[in-house]
Amino acid sequence: MLEQLEKDLQQAVDEAKEAIVAAHTVDALRQAESRLTGKKGSLGKLLGLIGKLPKEERGPAGKRINDTKNQIAGLFAEHHHELEQSADKQAAVESQTFDPTLPGPVVARGSLHPVTVVQWEIEDILARLGFVVVGGPEMETDYYNFEALNIPEMHPARDMQDTFWLDNGWLLRTHTSPCQVRAMEKLGPPLRVIAPGRVFRYETEDASHANTFHQLEGLMIDRHISIANLIAVMKLILTEIFRRDVKVRLRPGYFPFVEPGFELDMSCEICGGTGCATCKKSGWVEILPCGMVHPNVLRFGNIDPHEYTGFAFGLGLTRLAMMKYGVGDIRGLNSGRLRAIVRPEQRDGTAIVQKDRPES
Ligand code: PHE
Repeated sequence: MLEQLEKDLQQAVDEAKEAIVAAHTVDALRQAESRLTGKKGSLGKLLGLIGKLPKEERGPAGKRINDTKNQIAGLFAEHHHELEQSADKQAAVESQTFDPTLPGPVVARGSLHPVTVVQWEIEDILARLGFVVVGGPEMETDYYNFEALNIPEMHPARDMQDTFWLDNGWLLRTHTSPCQVRAMEKLGPPLRVIAPGRVFRYETEDASHANTFHQLEGLMIDRHISIANLIAVMKLILTEIFRRDVKVRLRPGYFPFVEPGFELDMSCEICGGTGCATCKKSGWVEILPCGMVHPNVLRFGNIDPHEYTGFAFGLGLTRLAMMKYGVGDIRGLNSGRLRAIVRPEQRDGTAIVQKDRPES
């Protein structure tokens, strides 16, 4: 008899488990519970049968039935709790009304480096004159950085630029001028190219010198190119960049790869020309070294100097960015703490850039 009872009880537990899995709401669960544990449920029926058992079996059978009843009640209670919790969550979500008119979270935007802004501007200006942007490697050979630029070995001009030499005999380019001969070889005459990029000098850093900075090389080669063309392009660049007539002066300058060569200085924008650390108290900053391409350089680029002439310039992009945005110390532009804010839409030059050096 008791054996049969155990089977019936196990079946009742199984039935309860099935009903619990099937009940997805608190109400459905309650109904299932009363159905199974009520008088008409399988447990109730078993309790009703106790009276028919032999006397000595009634006590243990009643206890087993009650234990099972408690076990089943426990299972129901557990699931009841789970269902209530998820119902609460659901209600909480539903009660939150979504307002599509509220502004979204503010996304922090990056900004462009002042040097990039100035570079893009010059690229735009010169693109209108038919110049195309070319590049060159930062790790250069002696040939392109010096020799092809009319600076042979032992030439004293090699001392003008302190070079980072590499173990493999190559070097970190000391200027963007190697791009000149590379462009001549690749494109042939006539050509109009600009080559912006990073350059490196083995130098002690101060307010106006850094070991890494940006230049923008320009080269125009055609028949009958003269100094007048050179000056016109230089003036156009500066007027467009500063949006006003900038005070400039032209001095003779020596660079082995140009003849004649010039230094184009502009009045220091940091001190207004009265003299400061940036302009080394002179009131002027060298900004645009330039000149007519030396015939030897044209020859290195496979161009006949009797047929073609050209001009080249090596604009100090970093310095120009400093002048344009009033950054007094070049180290500020190279530091990671650049508090300069120049957003892409402010490429018209309205960018606000701090005037002083960022604290270090
Ligand atoms: N490459 C020269 C420098 O870095 C600048 C320059 C370029 C001068 C082109 C004349 C012509 O100092």
